[in-house]
Amino acid sequence: MTQPTAFSAAGDTTAPEWWRSAVIYQIYPRSFADANGDGVGDLAGIASRMDALENLGVDAVWLSPFMRSPQKDAGYDVTDYKSVDPLFGTLDDFDAMLASAHQRGIKVIVDLVPNHSSDTHEWFIEALAAAPGSSERGRYLFRDGKGENGELPPNNWESVFGGPAWTRTTNPDGTPGEWFLHLFDSTQPDFDWTNPEVREMFRGVLRFWLDRGVDGFRVDVAHGMIKAEGLPDYTPNPGGGSMGGDDFEVPYWGQEGVHEIYRDWHKVLAEYEGDRVLAAEAWINPLSKMAKWVRPDEMHQAFNFPYLETAWDAQALRPVIDESLEAFGAVGAPATWVLSNHDVVRHASRLALTAENPQGHGIGPKSPGQPMREVGLQRARAASAFMLALPGGAYMYQGEELGLPEVINLPDEARQDPTWFRTNGERYGRDGCRVPLPWEPGTTAYGFNTTGESWLPQPEDWDDYSRAAQQGVAGSTLTLYTTALELRKRLDLGLGSVTWIENLPETMIGFRNGDIIVLGNTATTDWEIPAELAELPVLLASTTIAGNTLPGDATIWLQA
Ligand code: GLC
Repeated sequence: MTQPTAFSAAGDTTAPEWWRSAVIYQIYPRSFADANGDGVGDLAGIASRMDALENLGVDAVWLSPFMRSPQKDAGYDVTDYKSVDPLFGTLDDFDAMLASAHQRGIKVIVDLVPNHSSDTHEWFIEALAAAPGSSERGRYLFRDGKGENGELPPNNWESVFGGPAWTRTTNPDGTPGEWFLHLFDSTQPDFDWTNPEVREMFRGVLRFWLDRGVDGFRVDVAHGMIKAEGLPDYTPNPGGGSMGGDDFEVPYWGQEGVHEIYRDWHKVLAEYEGDRVLAAEAWINPLSKMAKWVRPDEMHQAFNFPYLETAWDAQALRPVIDESLEAFGAVGAPATWVLSNHDVVRHASRLALTAENPQGHGIGPKSPGQPMREVGLQRARAASAFMLALPGGAYMYQGEELGLPEVINLPDEARQDPTWFRTNGERYGRDGCRVPLPWEPGTTAYGFNTTGESWLPQPEDWDDYSRAAQQGVAGSTLTLYTTALELRKRLDLGLGSVTWIENLPETMIGFRNGDIIVLGNTATTDWEIPAELAELPVLLASTTIAGNTLPGDATIWLQA
């Protein structure tokens, strides 16, 4: 099937699909807004704050999982894929939230977690109760252990959250039994995706949400569902990162067999009216390999993690942007851009870390190279203003429009990420980017709810970051984002292209997209804007500009 591309020839009247140029805002439901006051955000809370998203000007929202779950991995451990966890409300609340988004022209994407379920999923409970070799066990990856009495795991794979990727079962008579695979927590058993029953179940899950009117899915661990034949031992490359990344030929990441699944899902989505989207969370390098996930008959977009992992550095940014445009363009997919999500250190802190911190391991009070808040915010604003001028899809994470930093000083007893527990506190994990949002200054829980309960404690100095404190205020981070999104839409930057501006100093990066020229200064020192550029009107600036000087760590958009 051929799809219209963003760069379709003049005269082509087919409108490009909305997702090719969309700004998609990630809502982390636990931490967005809490209507019932139990300390965990909910769907009614999201609906009640929909105006804020309309004001911000996003095209779509992606909701992290809200399905029934014991919440061992914040909902990425699903008990029932066709339900809403009472913690977040009811299916009626979901429908109301969806309707309220759609009324405002905001699309809604839900998170789908197909690599593994919770160990409380009825299939896993049945599997444990059934005998080895049974069809019930065949929906997951159960294997005999190694060693004389099967006392060793079937292979040497490690869980992404630390520790072994296998847990041994206990037989009904109390003797030790088979082992099951879990690439993540031991409460998240991996499905066996070679089993047709698993495939059929997920087609049903897609249809369930599509029938309710969702506009698409963000697919969790979309590079993990198929494991290499025979489950061979594998020792990760220390540079690869726990989700894969630079590592090549990993027996559990990026196996060829995953593509067949997405071709199948593509067909399911195509049965529905309108442009529905599949967005892949696939930590695959290089980008040319990741682009396989978004070939015309597979998924529609993939998160650009190589971009997220790039420092605020002109020399590093240009090649990754070139590579992204080329790799995605080669398969007819839009490039995407992202700087933050619920798994990484918020970019307002990450970009100011002075020492290397392994991706996804989080930062805490004892981490080396503590970020400097002012520098971090300045850089984050520059990096966001730069990203939002790029053509393609842009993903934002809730709170980045407020300039929120990572919360580093969470008390140990407040931490909830399984990574923290599985590594005995060696890795801080991801709680620091998941703290509930501040809405109003000087109020209970900053308006997250009215009871003051909060599943992770909010810092005491967040008044100035709150939305109400920034709304309509010139120079605030919220105003920067709102203006950028409004210009991006009005000038159609999402469907544009990148033409580099040459002969800039090493620490400067500049490009033209349609009617704007974007200049980013990645040095910490000022840059004198040359006369021919200095006379152009400034449409957007990530910081205050005086005269013809572009300060360090700043981005401006000029009218070309
Ligand atoms: C993805 C999610 C992450 C989750 C993991 C296991 O990487 O983004 O939050 O812990 O998958 O489902």
